[in-house]
Amino acid sequence: MKDKMRVPVRSSIQEIDEYKPGKLIEGALKLSSNENPLGPSPKVITEIVKSIEEGELKLSVYPWEKNEEELRDEILRYVDASARMKKENIVLGAGVDGVLDTLVRIFIANGDEALIPVPTFSLYESLVKIAWGVPKYVKRKRGFSIPVEELILSCNEKTKLIFISSPNNPTGNCISEDEIRVIIESLDSMVIIDEAYVEFADSSLVNLVTEYENAVVVRTFSKAFGLAGLRIGYGIIPEWLTSQYKKISIPFSVNSVAIKAAIAALRDQEYLRKTVELVKQERAFLTENLQRVFKVYPSKANFVLVDVSPAKSSEVYAELMKRGIIVRDCSSFRGAGDSFIRVTVGTREQNELVVDAVQSGFEF
Ligand SMILES: Cc1ncc(COP(=O)(O)O)c(C=O)c1O
Repeated sequence: MKDKMRVPVRSSIQEIDEYKPGKLIEGALKLSSNENPLGPSPKVITEIVKSIEEGELKLSVYPWEKNEEELRDEILRYVDASARMKKENIVLGAGVDGVLDTLVRIFIANGDEALIPVPTFSLYESLVKIAWGVPKYVKRKRGFSIPVEELILSCNEKTKLIFISSPNNPTGNCISEDEIRVIIESLDSMVIIDEAYVEFADSSLVNLVTEYENAVVVRTFSKAFGLAGLRIGYGIIPEWLTSQYKKISIPFSVNSVAIKAAIAALRDQEYLRKTVELVKQERAFLTENLQRVFKVYPSKANFVLVDVSPAKSSEVYAELMKRGIIVRDCSSFRGAGDSFIRVTVGTREQNELVVDAVQSGFEF
């Protein structure tokens, strides 16, 4: 290496923590990233293999707009029971992460603010900082509901975005429709509702996009559809925003295999129904059994939040890791403290391993 000065990186980058995904260790049971324990629908695999073999899906050419159109049609059918939306309301991205990245780059300029109720998904604050914005935080109340009045009072003319994860990661609770309406109606900021886990909840807030110009809903194929490895998500956005979105998003950021897979996944609603049913049933099993040892919060997602106090989350995490089970130590979530772990709902067999490990390892 020649002896030369390194080019200094942007100052704001020094403050950004690297995103730490759930660990993956060969042979261990990974319940740290809220993936689907059943995997995707077998019809998705068949469809991808068939379309590659028959030459319809060509890996050597860029993703075809026609397939993207077809996916947006399918998404529309899936999300819009009221039939009030248009295809123009649907945009795609490389996961919710990709959609959020584009939205943040549309709205946040140097010094703009974004409001984030914590604890929540940590990518929101990183994306805001990367765009030279300033994240502001409001602490969720006991039980993790959002202090709506405090949130509204914390906004000013610089507040461009509000991030609401519902169901929220890592707490598992949802915001009520009444509360989100108050937030949207009281503010001139764009309200981003992250419904990555909505399939496991009782209802969606997606219809608000047809009522308000400052509401956006983002969703994913990574969770209920079991396609996390393909990186595909979508946004349901007001029509006026679509042309801006297309200008800012990276061309071809969603690959052609992911597009095909997502279409096939949406067409197998029976498989989706089975997955959601299993997760709900197993969520109840996990909650009921872990509750015998620790406090478990009610969840509308495919994970449960567990308060392991008086133990520390790092101790319980390490103890479970010794037994080959990887959960999420939530101490890395801003505002979460040091006594929470998050456990992804698995199959009955997997959940029994967690329950056995917890019941035999921790007696308080
Ligand atoms: C609240 C929330 N939003 C978004 C994501 C990322 O989703 P995707 O895989 O679609 O990028 C996650 C992943 O864990 C999440 O918890």
